[in-house]
Amino acid sequence: MSKNPVYITSEALKRQEDAIERIAAMPERPQSYHIVTYGCQMNAHDSETLAGMLEQMGMLEAKDRKEADLVLFNTCCVRENAERRALGNVTWLNELKKKNANLIIGVCGCMVQQPHMAERILKQYPFVDLAFGTHNVYELPEMLEVLLASGNRVVRLAQLENTIAEGLPVKRKNSNKAFITIMYGCNNYCSYCIVPYVRGRERSRSMDDILREAQTLLESGVKEIMLLGQNVNSYGNGGQETFPALLKALDQMGVPRIRFMTSHPKDLSDALIDAMAGGKHILNHLHLPVQSGSNEILLAMNRHYTREKYLERVYSLRQAIPNIGLTTDLIVGFPGETEAQFMDTVSLVEQVGYDAAFTFIYSAREGTAAAKLTGRLPEQETSERIGRLIRVMEESTQRTYQSMLGQQEQVLVESISKRDAAMVSGKGMRGITITFPGSSADIGHIIPVTIIQSATNTLKAKRLTEGE
Ligand code: SAH
Ligand code: SF4
Ligand code: F3S
Repeated sequence: MSKNPVYITSEALKRQEDAIERIAAMPERPQSYHIVTYGCQMNAHDSETLAGMLEQMGMLEAKDRKEADLVLFNTCCVRENAERRALGNVTWLNELKKKNANLIIGVCGCMVQQPHMAERILKQYPFVDLAFGTHNVYELPEMLEVLLASGNRVVRLAQLENTIAEGLPVKRKNSNKAFITIMYGCNNYCSYCIVPYVRGRERSRSMDDILREAQTLLESGVKEIMLLGQNVNSYGNGGQETFPALLKALDQMGVPRIRFMTSHPKDLSDALIDAMAGGKHILNHLHLPVQSGSNEILLAMNRHYTREKYLERVYSLRQAIPNIGLTTDLIVGFPGETEAQFMDTVSLVEQVGYDAAFTFIYSAREGTAAAKLTGRLPEQETSERIGRLIRVMEESTQRTYQSMLGQQEQVLVESISKRDAAMVSGKGMRGITITFPGSSADIGHIIPVTIIQSATNTLKAKRLTEGE
């Protein structure tokens, strides 16, 4: 269970509000902003908060970084290529600055939260004006005010492992689907993973705060809420505040569609399965990262479950919710992974029959336990393995899609299809993208359809007609 969180004080939050007002009144302040977000929904959520604060200062979002007075890069460091991509793009910003000397460049997020990277940015990227870590997001107004007043670069890197800031303004990207972060941080220390180091200790928001936010969203017409956390299954503050209890409360509130991410298999309880099966609005999809199908590798990864335990949980889920769609994350090339251990992953993927998976090549992260292990695999081997795994997964996806032909689904329409203006596209209850004939009038509505055809990453459907 999570340790009690420490809330950012109302004085500290008031200081931000005051700074927002003062910046808004400055004649010379930046007029427009552009945020580039890398990584997971945690970063996406932080970007929505950053945008919310900037808009309160009177800035408008520029669709292109070339047109913005302030550009913020919210970075990820979960794998090396995520870092490399972010740094490459930051370098490119220097070119923009040569054209517009007033341009303010900020870098924030998980990559900056690693002290060695913060140091590197400061030394090698002198054109960066603002650098701050994941625990300083709420202080953007104060930092910006100091920068605007002094012209000196501002760097904040708090090592606050246990804080929650409530009540910050948020600018949401999508009015039909909304994300609610229910817990922050992670205590699991999977041996390959940097997240616990850059996001702090696991801490849960209060159920009252979450329900209040959900109620406001519901009243504003939101159709789907995605609950977010690195390990939502361990949400809780003791007593009545558990994840199944939270799901039940949201279900009763009448949120039309409820999803959540991510679930750690070790904490997938029977109570949670019951809550999912008993809920009217909880979608029949679960993202349940397995990482590997080999018990030796799972142990070395510090995942706290075995292949057998995982398969038992999958079995229990399917007993309770027969048409549940499962997705997963897989890592290939963990240090020392043998061909036989890799094949254990392949066979598990075949056995479970996932709808889809994110597949990653292991990337050593400085400061993690696995980074000290010997037995790194050559790139040729890891890319060959990931290729094989992706093919097995594609077959699994196609089996799922075939099994859904003729079934009815409910699609929350998000947009006009990019390929065909007479079609609309959205997500079904299992999280699969479904397209069918429609128009912009359908956007934001939940529409019943029948699946008629499967494509590579989408399903095609027709609208359900009366009596079907
Ligand atoms: N908290 C979530 C996911 C966090 S990161 C969970 O536990 O499932 C998302 C995914 O990135 C992980 O599931 C893992 O598959 C992958 N990942 C994390 N660290 C990695 C690393 N060092 N190398 C390769 N993939 C990694
Ligand atoms: Fe990383 Fe493991 Fe925590 Fe997920 S549960 S964020 S993989 S340490
Ligand atoms: Fe990346 Fe940070 Fe998320 S490291 S995956 S953005 S928590």
